[in-house]
Amino acid sequence: MLETVRWITAEGKVLAGFEEGLALLPGKLRIIDQTKLPKELVYLELDDIDEIVAAIQRLSVRGAPAIGCAAALGLAAAAQHVDADFEAKVEILADQLAASRPTAVNLFWALERCLSHLRRCDKNHLQELLREALAILEEDIQMCQSIGKHGAPLIEEGMGILTHCNAGALATGDFGTALSPMYVAHEAGRKFTVYSDETRPLNQGSRLTAWELHQSGVDVVTICDNMAAQVMKEGKIDLVIVGSDRIAANGDAANKIGTYGVAVLAKHHGIPFYVAAPTSTLDASLAHGGLIPIEIRDAAEVGAAEGVRVYNPAFDVTPSELIAGIITENGLHKPPYNFG
Ligand code: MRU
Repeated sequence: MLETVRWITAEGKVLAGFEEGLALLPGKLRIIDQTKLPKELVYLELDDIDEIVAAIQRLSVRGAPAIGCAAALGLAAAAQHVDADFEAKVEILADQLAASRPTAVNLFWALERCLSHLRRCDKNHLQELLREALAILEEDIQMCQSIGKHGAPLIEEGMGILTHCNAGALATGDFGTALSPMYVAHEAGRKFTVYSDETRPLNQGSRLTAWELHQSGVDVVTICDNMAAQVMKEGKIDLVIVGSDRIAANGDAANKIGTYGVAVLAKHHGIPFYVAAPTSTLDASLAHGGLIPIEIRDAAEVGAAEGVRVYNPAFDVTPSELIAGIITENGLHKPPYNFG
């Protein structure tokens, strides 16, 4: 499987969880540079706070759970350079990381979890910070595995499944959220075809989803974003599964721009539309999706003519009434949703 976000020790040992008795420090955050995929598989090893923030902002590491894991390990990596006043300085580092991207709640959830763990500790601060960060990564991998088990029964032999953006191993510690049920069904020997929306403007679908499914031997077809309606009309799609960056208490789910449109199309064609996400993506503090902050990204990503104004929201919110079920590590939740 892909090692999207890991800890790498000075001896070059790559870790996906805390290992008692092993020299974990010094070490660095290691990520796959997803801006280079699918052409090149390049790893970045980082311990400088500005470089880590920049890597999250330019989407070298992306996808809600992966951002959370990278922020936690990145915090531990950068904290190695703190000499005095550890707790206060680490809080400043966490603030810098928190300012990197606004929509995926996993980022804030992971940082808050690291900081509250630190507040409870009276010694070995750096070691404890790393322990918690590695626990977040390890749990994320387990949650994604469970999502796969709970979601796989939705996938039947011969189905066509549409997904949008990348909610696979590249977007998480491993296995993915929306793609995890597909990996489990594939392992079980079921044959199906995944239609991967290219996902403009940064093409996470065609560059990342299609690449990782193809690597794993899953039958995948890339389509342009504006083809989904026609492909559904042709009867090729039986099921839609997407990931999410933040789910409000009522089940409204933010995900990559274009997801809402796919949900509307699925409703029109009578195709069930599912969201898969770990509970770290739930934001019980928000009553509905209208309260989810939506990231507006640089106009240059869209590639308009010089001087033309561009509006580039990176996410949209699918209202819960369009969602047939939300798959978390705890099982398949059916409407009405109440995550408050
Ligand atoms: O801008 P990105 O690439 O970080 O957006 C990612 C998505 O929208 C994913 O679908 C979402 O984070 C779920 S990842 C398991």
